[in-house]
Amino acid sequence: MPEDGALPAHALEGAGERPLGFYLHVPYCATRCGYCDFNTYTASELRGAGGVLASRDNYAGQVAEEVRLARKVLGDDPRPVRTVFVGGGTPTLLAAGDLVRMLGAIRDEFGLADDAEVTTEANPESVDPAYLEELRAGGFNRISFGMQSARPHVLRILDRTHTPGRPEQCVAEARAAGFEHVNLDLIYGTPGESDDDWRASLDAAVGAGPDHVSAYALIVEEGTQLARRIRRGEVPMTDDDVHADRYLIADEAFEKAGFSWYEVSNWATSEAGRCLHNELYWRGADWWGAGPGAHSHVGGVRWWNVKHPGAYAAALGAGKSPGAGREVLADEDRRVERILLELRLREGVELALLKPAGLAAAGRALGDGLLEEEAYAAGRAVLTLRGRLLADAVVRDLVD
Ligand SMILES: C[S@@+](CC[C@H](N)C(=O)[O-])C[C@H]1O[C@@H](n2cnc3c(N)ncnc32)[C@H](O)[C@@H]1O
Ligand code: SF4
Repeated sequence: MPEDGALPAHALEGAGERPLGFYLHVPYCATRCGYCDFNTYTASELRGAGGVLASRDNYAGQVAEEVRLARKVLGDDPRPVRTVFVGGGTPTLLAAGDLVRMLGAIRDEFGLADDAEVTTEANPESVDPAYLEELRAGGFNRISFGMQSARPHVLRILDRTHTPGRPEQCVAEARAAGFEHVNLDLIYGTPGESDDDWRASLDAAVGAGPDHVSAYALIVEEGTQLARRIRRGEVPMTDDDVHADRYLIADEAFEKAGFSWYEVSNWATSEAGRCLHNELYWRGADWWGAGPGAHSHVGGVRWWNVKHPGAYAAALGAGKSPGAGREVLADEDRRVERILLELRLREGVELALLKPAGLAAAGRALGDGLLEEEAYAAGRAVLTLRGRLLADAVVRDLVD
């Protein structure tokens, strides 16, 4: 990774035809949820090494500095930015003015497309109507709340600090503030969650009136507090059959409430409700990820930033790129990646991308009822509902 972050010339060839997005990572949380292994730090974790540099008071300025670096690296690339997604961590631990300032840096350096989608993630306990109004007035038009569950004992196992009911209130407050698009994130398969608990969470989520929902199977990540608790036998592990049942329950509840799936873990009430920023990742467009540990991709070159907020601040303070490493994707890497990502989409993936072994596997998946017949006849691999339950296994065979 060169110190100035310069890209090889081939990365920018044909850039004008690809949309450009920005991901801004905010690496701070008030407390750490036991299941989470994202690159995020509580105040006590930040004390010590790089504590002063890494303070959240300086953070918006550091991200603005990286956006200016992006402008230099991308040169006279004329593309206005199509999507901005502020994620975390807990972006809403920063003042609303800080999030608006970071967005302002993108607007100043690149310009925003007229119909730009500008999202922030938010924890339900960290916002109020005035905060949401300030974000909306500052140009944010989409917000994603981490609801996870409506049941108190499930929220407790997940170490979530909000009270049941608060995420639904957040949706109403966001709508009142003028947000056009609102998402709720849910998690299923938490130890101690029953089918009825999950149904109650789904009812509460769709009843709140978001236009987008994401539902993720709980992943027990190595090294997390939850993994340790499961290993010690304090909480039970959820098995795959339960996850599959919960997925079916979710899909039915969402479809009944007027949502359609457009990616295995994502449903929206309309085309306009889909998350454009995620679609940009899934379709291999260009995005610049700013912040500690953030990943970027431009024209087949992928790079990632140093992970610690102190090291990130130090690099930018010294006028250097915070990039820690990068790779240039070979054509075969890009083919495999396209299959991995596009098979999870409702539009599926072109059969023409598959090699003979992958094509033979697709034929078997069709015979097993895991791929849609009509789409297959038209040259695409599209997962059926049963296929979605086994998406990881299906895709492993298709990339051969
Ligand atoms: C990393 S969080 C950031 C947003 C915000 N801090 C929050 O917690 O809502 C984004 C989403 O990832 C999902 N997530 C994080 N860790 C997960 C895990 N181990 N298994 C499944 N989903 C997870 C949660 O649904 C969460 O809302
Ligand atoms: S609030 Fe979100 S980012 Fe922070 S620890 Fe919990 S799940 Fe992870």
